Amino acid sequence: MEKKMKRIGVLTSGGDSPGMNAAVRAVVRTAIANGMQCIGIRRGWQGLITSDFVPLDAASVGHILSRGGTILYTARSEDFMTEKGRLKAVSTCKMLGLDGIVAIGGDGTFRGALELSRLGIPTVGVPATIDNDIGCTNYTIGFDTACNTAIECIDRLRDTMQSHERCSVVEVMGRNAGFLALYVGIAVGATAVLVPERELDLERDVIERIRNARLAGSTHFMIVVAEGVGSAVEIGKQIQERIGISPRVTVLGHIQRGGSPNARDRETATRMGYFAVKAMAEGRTNCIIGTRGGDIVETPIEEALAMKKHLQMDRYQVLETVSVTTPAFTMPAR
Ligand code: F6P
Repeated sequence: MEKKMKRIGVLTSGGDSPGMNAAVRAVVRTAIANGMQCIGIRRGWQGLITSDFVPLDAASVGHILSRGGTILYTARSEDFMTEKGRLKAVSTCKMLGLDGIVAIGGDGTFRGALELSRLGIPTVGVPATIDNDIGCTNYTIGFDTACNTAIECIDRLRDTMQSHERCSVVEVMGRNAGFLALYVGIAVGATAVLVPERELDLERDVIERIRNARLAGSTHFMIVVAEGVGSAVEIGKQIQERIGISPRVTVLGHIQRGGSPNARDRETATRMGYFAVKAMAEGRTNCIIGTRGGDIVETPIEEALAMKKHLQMDRYQVLETVSVTTPAFTMPAR
């Protein structure tokens, strides 16, 4: 018979994302509702090595639903990459009497969870990253808020680019993935979007599009570059060399990771946190929670890590078709 879990740990690891706190809150309160105690591990996997923890009750996660960042802090632990570090983590779990760990983060976090599960500590992952690059889930916590933050920044940039009739090159995050860039690019009506999933042809993807926009009467241009493509500064230089306009370059950077989570991120984080603990309480561990369609799904960690998430290139075609102005239609003379 399945051993009933009495105490679990929860941690956030890797790059933070808006909604992580909402997930922590849901994990803690669902654990308590299922008769379990919950311990917060600080600074991700590193906290299991340094015994950095805090007992959490229902009240201690009050008023964090709307807060960005993570109250548990986060880190990328080098020590956890070593066998010595992982064994220390296991002994901390034993010392704390943890029957399992809910790990909130991205693929690095889940690689850590897999290692720990192989050493006999049951784990469940909750996907939270602004990159939205986790194969086993349609959606990762924080993506929508990050898109909206980037959109707000780019709308502001557009105002000044329009006044000065300039070209703006904006670099957005996403690590090796172009989800953030493409969604944002569509939403701001960018002249061009560069994503790592598509081989770069600057002439075709940028220069030609600026020329066409100019012919159609545009006097300002917005180029969105995913960081995985390379430096926006370099792209800006190449635009200047090829068509003699002098773009202004903006790297949005960590601005995109902060801020209060929006409705989608609060709701998704709360559901994912709830279902992570439910899975654990029902004896289904070593899996990652995800969404498919509107449903919550569970995927074994090893399988999940092998899944590749493909950028929907039809979205690229949508952008190319819609974000272009064609010369005005003139009525033939009667
Ligand atoms: O994975 C989230 C992310 O924000 C990526 O988009 C980015 O490449 C990376 O983290 C930045 O990491 P750091 O916070 O260590 O600079």
